[in-house]
Amino acid sequence: MADRRPAAIATGKLLFRNNCAICHKASGVGGIHFGKVASANLQSPHLEMVYHNKDSLIARAIIDAEDQHDRPLNHVMPAWRGRLTGMQVQDIIAYLRTLHA
Ligand code: HEC
Repeated sequence: MADRRPAAIATGKLLFRNNCAICHKASGVGGIHFGKVASANLQSPHLEMVYHNKDSLIARAIIDAEDQHDRPLNHVMPAWRGRLTGMQVQDIIAYLRTLHA
């Protein structure tokens, strides 16, 4: 389970605002079109359902840009390996779990 400590969520929020909101919107709802692909909805509980409620799979989607079926996500979604640490990704996931429609 994602870290629920306020410090983790606050850090995750900052990281999300700085790196992800431009494509997924500040609310995480996504829906911004890049050609044929649209940015994904990262709000709860949608994201958890897509990734079988496994933070490890959500983390992999962020770090390696691979979906729940081990397939590459559309290249518009960057792989964050080398740009975000595993801990930072966990903080982002903690924050994403606070985003509800
Ligand atoms: C340049 C635009 C862009 C940026 C920046 C970006 N994303 Fe994405 N993201 C996308 C697009 C487009 C998709 C949909 C890819 C697809 O459908 O294959 C996506 C998909 C995802 C998915 C998969 C969701 C699903 O339902 O399969 C996750 C998780 C995700 N992004 C998280 C993040 C996080 C966290 C960040 C910031 C660290 C981020 N993204 C930054 C464009 C972006």
